Amino acid sequence: MVSHCAISDQTRKCGETAMTEYHLHRFLDDARQAARANPEPADCVAAVAPLMHRLLLGDRGFLEPGHFRDDPDHYARNAVHIGDDGGLSLYALVWNPGQWTPVHDHGTWGVVGMVRGVLEERNFIRSDHQNETDEGIVLHRGGVILMTECTVTTFVPNPDHIHRTGVAEDREQAVSLHLYGRTMNSFHVYDLAAGSRERIDVFHNES
Ligand SMILES: [Fe+2]
Repeated sequence: MVSHCAISDQTRKCGETAMTEYHLHRFLDDARQAARANPEPADCVAAVAPLMHRLLLGDRGFLEPGHFRDDPDHYARNAVHIGDDGGLSLYALVWNPGQWTPVHDHGTWGVVGMVRGVLEERNFIRSDHQNETDEGIVLHRGGVILMTECTVTTFVPNPDHIHRTGVAEDREQAVSLHLYGRTMNSFHVYDLAAGSRERIDVFHNES
């Protein structure tokens, strides 16, 4: 296993003690249990974030060559686990320099963990609070997060976490793990200029 971390010795990864014994199946079992025990999304992501961090500190042997598939035209979304019950889903996303998502939300909670590279998230704040339609949406540019290896970030719905994610042109390819509270087969895409959004369907293994 080739590590992508700057390891000062064999027991350290990302500045912390490596945990080679924590593997994917245990992570998923623990995350399912945390989700069941924490119906409130903010409680759920608080419980799951340390699990994602622990997974990143492991040997990452569950990541197969197919999970690192990239696409020259857009970021690639590679399914790692799709729950049979429509529950948790985990994806490896591969971002080449200059590849970005549209402005979007997810309609569920999520926990993102960085495998390698630098991923940027640009956030948007919606100010038309009483509007429950898909038109007349007012978005304001918010803060930016730069995520590096072993960073874990989370989001919750209601209000929606609206953001755009990608890798700057002058950076190297990034790989990130994304755990969602449901199968991520649809989400809202926002048109800032038009002040509107639409729900789009995606196959689980497509971008
Ligand atoms: Fe997202």
